[in-house]
Amino acid sequence: MEALKVKPLKNKKLVVLMVEKEYNEPFWLIEPTNKPGSELSTLHKPSIALTSFLEKLIQKIKPDFATEELGMRSLEEFNENNDLSKLFKRNNISFYPVDIDENARSYIAQLLDEKKQLRDQIIQALEERLKKKGKSKEFSIEEEYLIAYGQYLQSELEKQEKETNFSVRESWIVMKILDTARNTNSNGEITCIHISSPEHVKGVTKLLEKLNVTVERISVSKEVTLSLQETPNLKSIDSLLQAMQIKVKPIIKKESIELPYLLFFLDSDQIASPFDVCMAYDAGYNAVIPYENVNSKDAKKIVEDAVFSRGPKGVKRTTFFIGGKDIAQAEETAKVITKAMFPPFNASVVIDPAGAYTTAAAAVAKVQNAISSNNLGSLSDKTCAVFGTGSVGRIIAVLLTKLGCDVTIASLNPNRENGDEYAAELAEQINTQYGVHLQGFFAPTPEKKFGLLKKAEVIFCAGTRGVQVLDKEILQKVKLLKVLADINAIPPLGVEGIKPDDDMREIEQGIYAVGALAIGRLKHEVELEMLKEVRRTGKGTYSYTFALELARKLLQKTISSGALKLTLRYPNIK
Ligand SMILES: NC(=O)c1ccc[n+]([C@@H]2O[C@H](COP(=O)([O-])OP(=O)(O)OC[C@H]3O[C@@H](n4cnc5c(N)ncnc54)[C@H](OP(=O)(O)O)[C@@H]3O)[C@@H](O)[C@H]2O)c1
Repeated sequence: MEALKVKPLKNKKLVVLMVEKEYNEPFWLIEPTNKPGSELSTLHKPSIALTSFLEKLIQKIKPDFATEELGMRSLEEFNENNDLSKLFKRNNISFYPVDIDENARSYIAQLLDEKKQLRDQIIQALEERLKKKGKSKEFSIEEEYLIAYGQYLQSELEKQEKETNFSVRESWIVMKILDTARNTNSNGEITCIHISSPEHVKGVTKLLEKLNVTVERISVSKEVTLSLQETPNLKSIDSLLQAMQIKVKPIIKKESIELPYLLFFLDSDQIASPFDVCMAYDAGYNAVIPYENVNSKDAKKIVEDAVFSRGPKGVKRTTFFIGGKDIAQAEETAKVITKAMFPPFNASVVIDPAGAYTTAAAAVAKVQNAISSNNLGSLSDKTCAVFGTGSVGRIIAVLLTKLGCDVTIASLNPNRENGDEYAAELAEQINTQYGVHLQGFFAPTPEKKFGLLKKAEVIFCAGTRGVQVLDKEILQKVKLLKVLADINAIPPLGVEGIKPDDDMREIEQGIYAVGALAIGRLKHEVELEMLKEVRRTGKGTYSYTFALELARKLLQKTISSGALKLTLRYPNIK
């Protein structure tokens, strides 16, 4: 049996003119899906429009050889009973069938035979039962199980059919085109016309291009016009034929190589975050280009340079991702670059400084969902305290205030001088910048923390990594507190007794905890889905508001396969 080995050409340049024919050449492993005898099969032949176009094409480019899929035809049928074969022969062009080796095809078909026989047995058994039933459409449990088994076998067979028809067969087609080119005596450029079924144009083109073959795709559009004044009367085919004219126009597509998706990562930190780089690749970007220590001036230059190089089409596949720990700097950069772009050169922009926006959005959505699904009312009318004035704490506080909560943000660092002033000024600055109304508080000691805790119903701990913010003792004293979320995943955790995986576990009487990993998992999903959405839409600015909406949606529609798994067993009636 011939082996499948696809190797690129050495010292030869091959150009393939891939001409799409008007129908898919029938192919099957175990049974035809579109039976050749069906009504439409009369139309399954190269039309006079296609053959006339090919005649013209051959005369113009004088190809070295031509190929076509063999499909289910015998070699004799391919050579003797094929309009294309006659056409190429007439023009002295060698014409070859290219397809999966017949032995390989029968070998794969044989492997499927057992499944097919079993499926047929099931169908037969079902048919016999249905016949006996007459008009009744009620199925017994036994028949239900047989149907499910039959469907399973059928889908397995179809999967294998598809796999063979596409990935396996297309590799054989490409190998045979390359082998023919390899054996063609020519030192210069070799040109091949390959006549392809529409369903294989994309796959074969992709494979050929991967092997450095230049491909031009040609499809032939036909427009039939009738010179009759009124709608033709089909009574007389002859008058219809007299009146018709076929306009044939080739549509030529050069280079199917698509523009890559690029993400320019503008990070104001010294080292661009590998977390965000990985996320962007995982979301499907073809390349992520990190820039470090970027300020808004640098960012403007990078953006201007990048968008003009890509043109309007490429801009839709270009994203600027703004990172770095400093959120004020990130917002400033976003403003500057958005202003620097103008139609049609507007690329998409994502703002997620050091992951703060997606983390804050995930934390708020997670707590909001937990409160409502545990019948604890609504987050929007709760009094909330946010411990931590870093980027994450600030955005959590902003989102909560926008939801309608009564919010206090607390600065924690005991080494901070003038903490009260700092907290008050920070609150004012946040209120002005985000158009919200929240209070600032300096809480470096347990007493100060308790002062805030005794009024709070919901708490977010967004302290720096590895620093415990609240201990058990303080939690045992509070009365109103219902939900507590901690974002610090590095031990010691932000709250004594909390576990990173906690998802509304009661850690003290009446106090439910959400841990850093429960939030982190949602944050990961939010960032990934947001990047996928940006890549798909190719426009707009994405920030914490979008991230919160997305986090909520993800929580609503999360269906884990684990939770929905089930095993059915046929009941042993005896
Ligand atoms: N789970 C996730 O997916 C995820 C993602 C990103 C970040 N994070 C975590 O989120 C948390 C907040 O990060 P961030 O970048 O917003 O803030 P951050 O810069 O790490 O600091 C936040 C807070 O820590 C306080 N702090 C600093 N040093 C302290 C000390 N020695 N003792 C007590 N408090 C101290 C600061 O107090 P002042 O307000 O007084 O300055 C500030 O309020 C971190 O634990 C980070 O690891 C988690």
